[in-house]
Amino acid sequence: AMSVFVTRRIPAEGLRVLSQASGVRVQQWDSEEPVPRAELLAGVAGTRGLLCLLSDRIDREVLDAAGACGTPRDPPALPRAPGHARQRPSCLAGPGLKVISTLSVGFDHLALDEIKKRGIRVGYTPDVLTDATAELSVALLLSACRRLPEAAEQVRSGGWTTWKPLWMCGHGLSDSTVGIIGLGRIGQAVARRLKPFGVRKFLYTGSAPKPESAAEFGAEFVPLTRLAEESDFVVVTCALTPATQGMCNKDFFGRMKKTSVFVNTSRGAVVNQQDLYEALAHGQIAAAGLDVTTPEPLPTDHPLLSLKNCVILPHIGSATYATRSTMAVLAARNLLAGLRGEPMPHELSL
Ligand code: NDP
Ligand code: DGY
Repeated sequence: AMSVFVTRRIPAEGLRVLSQASGVRVQQWDSEEPVPRAELLAGVAGTRGLLCLLSDRIDREVLDAAGACGTPRDPPALPRAPGHARQRPSCLAGPGLKVISTLSVGFDHLALDEIKKRGIRVGYTPDVLTDATAELSVALLLSACRRLPEAAEQVRSGGWTTWKPLWMCGHGLSDSTVGIIGLGRIGQAVARRLKPFGVRKFLYTGSAPKPESAAEFGAEFVPLTRLAEESDFVVVTCALTPATQGMCNKDFFGRMKKTSVFVNTSRGAVVNQQDLYEALAHGQIAAAGLDVTTPEPLPTDHPLLSLKNCVILPHIGSATYATRSTMAVLAARNLLAGLRGEPMPHELSL
């Protein structure tokens, strides 16, 4: 049987797909907590398939531990001297790891260069979590701009003494400009949900304009600087890449309006958190909502947590029962298809 290693306790529906598959032996780090690095390295040894999470850094060390030297799908034409055997990179021996299936749409935790070099296929979970994540993004945006956690706390603490005209006011979406950083699947789903709130104008950035996607919202492709300057709400829904890492920094927040609200549901590392802290603490922007941070979890004594105008959630974008279950089934099916050399329901093209 081919062995697969699952790095966490996952929704039962997903595990069932794997355990009912013939010719597959499932090993699992059956815990709510992340697999310790040493256990991950031991767990992948000799395995053909790996089902991992965004909290598992799958790098060269893990691939080496897995004995991952699979044959590249497009082996380079190697020079062959007469009378000599074709040269082969030493790591082409042995079966090793064939497929990595991540229980996420984000893949910044995977060393794709190394993975590609070794001819390993990668499955991921786009689409099935778009609605849940967009919904959470809207919830977070409204929580931050209408100050929901702060207001709810006032009720508990007795700070609510009477109805006051100037108390607990925030900023609403009506007649606003919303800037979306990364108008991908989730970015579009966020825009679709925000539009009925009376948004006047959508702006977006990305590596290139996407007229077909933008048309639905009449969204305008602008440089990042202009998006920062003109948006009342900035929503970050891009992938974390070398280009987007630290993109929301001092210069970016410095350009934003004092009344504007910043929301990030992509990856924490897109934001320079020190710069965000300064901007929030000094009233350079009005509020922020973050579903993702660096690190995760954010230490409970982190300066951002001392701010009333910063709402922080523990990376729950896709966290509905139905979505997580669907993600697990998809991740399991991706893994099985990869093991069998079949097309995956959702394969990342490397
Ligand atoms: P998509 O690939 O559909 O969208 C990603 C977008 O990022 C693309 O539109 C891309 O635009 C954009 N992008 C890439 N480079 C840049 C750049 N330099 N500047 C601005 N935008 C850029 O992915 P999804 O919408 O499905 O997911 C997006 C991300 O959301 C995931 O990668 C993941 O990190 C995060 N996520 C977080 C969740 C949570 O729980 N908080 C849940 C699910 C996802 P272009 O095509 O122009 O390059
Ligand atoms: C992802 O899928 O990338 C999210 O961060 C978790 O669902």
